This record gives sequence, C-alpha cells and structure tokens, in this order.
Amino acid sequence: MNTIEAITGRRSIRKFKPEKVDRETIEKIVAAAAYAPSWKNTQVTRYHVFDSQDIKDTIADNYTLGFTYNEGTISHAPQVVAITAIKGRSGMEKDGSATTDKGDAWLMFDAGAAAQTFCLAAYEYGVGTVIMGIFDAEKVAELLHIPENEVVVTLVPIGYPDEAPTAPRRKSVEDLLSFVNIPN
Ligand SMILES: Cc1cc2nc3c(=O)[nH]c(=O)nc-3n(C[C@H](O)[C@H](O)[C@H](O)COP(=O)(O)O)c2cc1C
Repeated sequence: MNTIEAITGRRSIRKFKPEKVDRETIEKIVAAAAYAPSWKNTQVTRYHVFDSQDIKDTIADNYTLGFTYNEGTISHAPQVVAITAIKGRSGMEKDGSATTDKGDAWLMFDAGAAAQTFCLAAYEYGVGTVIMGIFDAEKVAELLHIPENEVVVTLVPIGYPDEAPTAPRRKSVEDLLSFVNIPN
C-alpha cells in the first residue's frame, strides 16, 4: 500500500469483529504514530488503551453527551484508545507565555496530527479506527485515571472491521485549493 492509497482508503470504522487487537500490533501502530510531527518535537501525545466492558459501557451510557450514535460504537468496540496530550507545552515558551497568537491551541493540532498518523498506521495493519470528539473529556479522564497534566483529546475505538463503508463525499480540489498570486 502506498501513502496515497492509505490516505484515501482509510475509513472511519464503527462496527468491529469481537476479537481484540494484540499488544504487539498496538505497539507497532504507536511506534509508527511516534513519527507524527509535533510542536518543537515535544511529542506530547499519549495513548491509553482500555478494553474493560464496564468502562466502555460507563462511557457509552453516561458520557456521550446525548450523541447516541457513539454509544454502540464505544460499547461494542473490542478496545478503545484515549488519545491525550500533555498540557502547557505545544505553542508555549518555557516561561509560560504563548509563542503565537494561537496560544496553546497547538496542543490540539499536535494531537490531531498524531491521531491521524495512528489511524493510518492502524489501517496498514488491518485495524479499523474512528476518531471521536463527542464525549465528556473530563469525566473520561477521571474514569480512566488519566494523569492531571494530560487532557483527553479524542477517543478512538479500534478493532478488526466488520463493515466496509464507502467514502463520504469529499469537496473538489477546486473548492479546496487556491494558488495565491498577488501582482507586485
Ligand atoms: C475531530 C473529529 C471528531 C469526530 N467525532 C466523531 C464522533 O464523535 N463520532 C463518530 O462516529 N465519528 C466522528 N468523527 C469521524 C468523522 O465523522 C469522519 O471522519 C468523517 O465522516 C469522514 O469519514 P471517513 O473518516 O470515513 O473518511 C470525527 C472525526 C474528527 C476528525
């Protein structure tokens, strides 16, 4: 599989076969995700994998903010990865001031780049993923005993796909791209 095939072929997977992804495969996926770019190479992203049915059900039943679509995906996925980021580094100087006008929003950027890299690496190993944003991050952090200096950015259910969705429609290159040409 080449890079373009990986980028275009990856789909969000919300239905999984029951078997778990073994530790070695998860380690290989994270080893690849470690190569995602990050603010000054701070590598703030962390991956917390859980498979407890109790924990999955607690999140699905209580912490999906009324977005019922996420309930089944979380409770039926064999495993879920809480992707977190260490606070206060991305976008920030050592003295605690912000480097740019985006402040610490670069944390989300770093976690996003890492999450997509994780999903693409997973795809290479036949593992399905879906990046989820709609859940109560503080409650999830509490439930999983996530260290205080990390923020939960996304939950990513993982497992071997039990569906093969077609790609949702994409905008055209014409819609997305412009070449800036300001005359001198
Ligand atoms: C920041 C972000 C948040 C998302 N949140 C959810 C979510 O809460 N639940 C869900 O089922 N999918 C979620 N998705 C997946 C998108 O719906 C999906 O990527 C989009 O429909 C395109 O489909 P594809 O990933 O198969 O190409 C999210 C994706 C991103 C990037």
